Amino acid sequence: MTAAIETHKLTKWYSHRSRGILDVDLVVETGQIFGFLGPNGAGKSTMIRLLLDLIRPTSGSAQVLGLDVHRDRLAIDRRVSYVPGELSLYSELTGRQLLTYLGNLQGGVDAVYRDKLIERLELDPDKRIKSLSRGNKQKVGLVAAFMIRPELLILDEPTAGLDPFIQLEFEHLCEEARTEGRTVFISSHQLPEVEHLCDRVGIIREGRLLAVESIAALKERALRRLEIDFGEPVGVEAFANLPGVRDLTVTDSVLRCTVMGSLDALVKAAARYEVRNLRSIDTSLEEIFMAYYGADDGAAEEVSHAAA
Ligand SMILES: Nc1ncnc2c1ncn2[C@@H]1O[C@H](COP(=O)(O)OP(=O)(O)OP(=O)(O)O)[C@@H](O)[C@H]1O
Ligand SMILES: [Mg+2]
Repeated sequence: MTAAIETHKLTKWYSHRSRGILDVDLVVETGQIFGFLGPNGAGKSTMIRLLLDLIRPTSGSAQVLGLDVHRDRLAIDRRVSYVPGELSLYSELTGRQLLTYLGNLQGGVDAVYRDKLIERLELDPDKRIKSLSRGNKQKVGLVAAFMIRPELLILDEPTAGLDPFIQLEFEHLCEEARTEGRTVFISSHQLPEVEHLCDRVGIIREGRLLAVESIAALKERALRRLEIDFGEPVGVEAFANLPGVRDLTVTDSVLRCTVMGSLDALVKAAARYEVRNLRSIDTSLEEIFMAYYGADDGAAEEVSHAAA
């Protein structure tokens, strides 16, 4: 199947000093919800603008729906919706007028579906856009994006400004799009915002794509802190050098450590004693993620080595 998005060594320098993105190789499969995550200034919007041919790359290439983003731009435009981070809409129009206008540009849309979207996102369509709050403006952009049922939605920080209820409704819309085999590409600087929604995430920092992983794989690598309470004092030697076990301490009858990956070796070693209690504390995905984000290169490296 053709990938929804595919880039090869995609690079953008805005000037010789201003780095946009560097050598990004990314494949986003059709029918996925993909999270593109990175801190401020990482290059998320740059990547998105390149995919939409709003800016031209310094080097490298990009395809969307199997088409060249520059050469086939018109064909792509009809099949892709884009909501930019900073919406600048025709502010004198009402939401309804703008949506009608945009719908007509697309050769008409399913009005029933459009109105359903307006209702679900609780947009007041008869207010002038200039009088809408940031979140409410964002809703106009989202209705416009979803109402044409595009094959690919490219959404630059779509949840910024949405209240939790609307955010949930937005997630349902993304999930429905996926059910219909469509693809959603969402940028965000917060993993928790998208972690339960996305199938895969790409992590970008300082213009470079550091990792692309399924959420499931990220979770598998989560560290677990374990505490085992034995019925009797145990020696630390019995647990030293077990695979995946680190930060091991034993105080009398209580063992504490951190385990990455399978618990098998530790559990088998522990089974030689009476195990009174066992507590496992999952470290959050956010912690793994912050290691990628961290300014300190060492932390990111540690995580990627751990993955290998
Ligand atoms: N028009 C421009 N001219 C020069 N440099 C730019 C321009 N646009 C972006 N940059 C630079 O490119 C880098 C990436 O910016 P980009 O807007 O892609 O980041 P981002 O990940 O979208 O950040 P944010 O989370 O703040 O939206 C930044 O260092 C930024 O200063
Ligand atoms: Mg941005």
